[in-house]
Amino acid sequence: MQRAIDRLQPAASRHPQLTLMSWAFRRVMTSFKALGPRETAGLIRKNLAEYARKCVNRHFDRKYHVDTSGTTQLADLTCESTNKPLGILYEPTPLRTLKCMFSMLPSDLSDFTFIDYGSGKGRTMLYASGYNFRRIIGVEFAKELHVIAQRNLKTYRCAVQKCHDITSMCMDATEFTLPEENCVLYFFHPFREAVMRRVLDNIEQSYARCPRKIIVLYYHPRHNNVLQERVFLEKRADRPVPFDLSAEPCIYRRRLELYETSNRPAVGRAT
Ligand SMILES: C[S@@+](CC[C@H](N)C(=O)[O-])C[C@H]1O[C@@H](n2cnc3c(N)ncnc32)[C@H](O)[C@@H]1O
Repeated sequence: MQRAIDRLQPAASRHPQLTLMSWAFRRVMTSFKALGPRETAGLIRKNLAEYARKCVNRHFDRKYHVDTSGTTQLADLTCESTNKPLGILYEPTPLRTLKCMFSMLPSDLSDFTFIDYGSGKGRTMLYASGYNFRRIIGVEFAKELHVIAQRNLKTYRCAVQKCHDITSMCMDATEFTLPEENCVLYFFHPFREAVMRRVLDNIEQSYARCPRKIIVLYYHPRHNNVLQERVFLEKRADRPVPFDLSAEPCIYRRRLELYETSNRPAVGRAT
């Protein structure tokens, strides 16, 4: 190994790419010696996947002049809500998942308001603006994420933007009052069951006051029991999302569920 590295050294001083190559080679050989071939192959695969994920996410951000990539733990964010311990970290919806999700919606959305519960830096709101929604609202309780989302809304440049009425609201999702309009509601596993339950109670009460078309998209549906027990909602689709280079690693394949308001009585629990 040492001989191979020594042979690379003179050329590396002339070509910076080779310095990087010899550094990578050194690391691979060190890992190979310490961990053996199987684990080294696993580490190479993991690092390449991480590099690819960063590139794909950065490409989206650069293309649209925004900052939506990366994950952030709630412990590193400012948030006054007592629901903070029940919230899930920030992670943007992967790009192919967005495409798959919006293909499940009706073609004409001009009569619908899109609401992202736990909107983070606003990637899904920006993507939704490519569709003809009446308006788009994001609800996010972490101040830093809300500030970034507002900046993104200002800097976003997209030739095919169809909806320009977009608002990011800095508040707890349990305090948000659902507009009495047809709505598409989006959840990317934003909070734990207790909060999900309170949010669903609010939605159910709003529907009881004003029956209308409500479509719920639930990505990574960890608490889908909360939706399945509501008689005012019917599950219409449940599918795994396509393989996505931009997605954070996850030990199992994530799913996407779609629910719609049924014509059954507004308030009550399924038995
Ligand atoms: C998985 S991220 C979803 C990101 C975003 N929906 C997207 O598609 O890019 C979950 C987000 O929910 C937010 N969140 C968690 N609990 C919340 C609550 N009670 N009220 C409002 N936002 C909440 C987190 O701060 C985080 O940004």
